Amino acid sequence: MTVTTIKHDVKDLSLASQGNKRIAWAGREMPVLRQIRERFAQEQPFKGIRISACCHVTTETANLALTLQAGGADALLIASNPLSTQDDVAASLVADYGISVFAIKGEDNATYHRHVEVALDHHPNIIIDDGSDVTTALVLHRSAQLGEIIGTTEETTTGIVRLRAMLADGRLPFPAIAVNDAETKHFFDNRYGTGQSTIDAVMRATNILLAGKVIVVAGYGWCGKGVALRARGLGANVIVTEVVPVRALEAVMDGFRVMPMAEAAKLGDLFITVTGNKHVIRQEHLELMKDGAMICNSGHFDVEIDLVALKNMSQDVRLVRPFVQEYILPHKSLIVLGEGRLVNLAAAEGHPASVMDMSFANQALAAEYLVKQKGKLAPGVIPVPADIDQEIARLKLQAMGIAIDRMTEEQVTYVNSWTEGT
Ligand code: ADE
Repeated sequence: MTVTTIKHDVKDLSLASQGNKRIAWAGREMPVLRQIRERFAQEQPFKGIRISACCHVTTETANLALTLQAGGADALLIASNPLSTQDDVAASLVADYGISVFAIKGEDNATYHRHVEVALDHHPNIIIDDGSDVTTALVLHRSAQLGEIIGTTEETTTGIVRLRAMLADGRLPFPAIAVNDAETKHFFDNRYGTGQSTIDAVMRATNILLAGKVIVVAGYGWCGKGVALRARGLGANVIVTEVVPVRALEAVMDGFRVMPMAEAAKLGDLFITVTGNKHVIRQEHLELMKDGAMICNSGHFDVEIDLVALKNMSQDVRLVRPFVQEYILPHKSLIVLGEGRLVNLAAAEGHPASVMDMSFANQALAAEYLVKQKGKLAPGVIPVPADIDQEIARLKLQAMGIAIDRMTEEQVTYVNSWTEGT
C-alpha cells in the first residue's frame, strides 16, 4: 500500500506519527472494543461489506475504524462536524492504516457536504452515522442506492430524533439501529462523557475558575445531567433550564435551581446548551445577559445559540483566544466558545476513550448484527438487542476487574413466577 492510492482529504499526512501514538494511547482505555476487534479479525463479519462512517474523527473513532477494518470491511470515514476532526488522527488512518478519510478540522460547510457526497459515492451497505447527515442525504438524494443499504446505525440522540421524523414521514426504508439508546451508550457516554469533556473544553478554552461561578445548563437530558453534575462538582452554582416537566422536576430534586431562561439569563456567568433544540438562547436572552457572560453549546448541531441574532446585535467580533470569540455590543461584550459548535470536540478532545469504548462496541456489534440479520429486519428505528447491551457491560466490568453476583436458581424461578406473593 502506498498513501497515494488511498483516497483521502486530510490536512497534512506528515502529522501521522503523532496521530498513531495518540490512537494507541486511546486504545489502551478501550478493552471491550479491543476484544471485539480480535474476534472480528478471526471471523471477518464484514468481508465484502462497504461501510461509510460519519463520526467525529478522534483517537477513539480511529479505534472503531480499525475494528471495522479488522473485520474485513471496506471502510471510509468522514467527519460528522466541521470542527471536531483531529488532523493527526485523520493523517494516521490514511498513512499508517490505509483507511480512506475525508475530514479536516475547520473545514467549511461546502467541504463538509462534499465529504457527505464522498461517503455516499462509496456505495455503502452500512452507514455508521453521528447526527444522521449521511442517512438523510441518502434518502433525499440517492434513491437509486437504497437497494444497496443493509441498514444504518446512529450514535446520537439528535440523529435518532431525525430518524423517527423520517419514519413518521414514511421515508425510512431500511432498519436503523438506535445505538444511542443502548444503556451502555447513553448512561455513560452522554452523562459522564459529555459531562467531563464539556467542562474540560471550557477550562482548556478559557482557563477560568469554575468554583463560585453561576453556570446555566440548558437541558436536563442525559448530557445535561452530566454537565450539571460535573459543574457542581467543581464548585459552581448550577441553574438548570428545561421544557419537559418530569426532567425539570428531576433537576429540582437533584438539588439544582430550575427557572426559565429569561430569568437565568440575568444570573449566569457561563451558559451551556445541551438540548438538541434550536435557538434555546436567542436575542431576548442575550439582551439580558451580564457583561462578559460566556456561552457555549454541547448539543449536536450549532443551532442552539442564535448566533445570527448575536452578530446583528454586535458592533464587532474578535478572536481573543483559540475557540474564544468576543462579541462587542454597545454596552457589554459576550463571549462565545467554539463558534457555538459542540464545544467538547471543538475546544477539547471529546469524550474520553473509556466511555467511547462502550459506545463504539455498540456501533461495531450493531453493524455486525445488521449484516447477520440482513433481509430479516423490518425498516424502522430498532433498538440494540438487549443481549448485546448486557454483554458490553459484562465485558467492561471484566476488564475493570469487577465481579458481580449471579442469581441463584431459586431467584431465577422467583423473578419468572407470578404465583408467589404476600
Ligand atoms: N463524541 C463525543 N466524544 C467523542 C469522541 N471522543 N470520539 C468520537 N465521537 C465522540
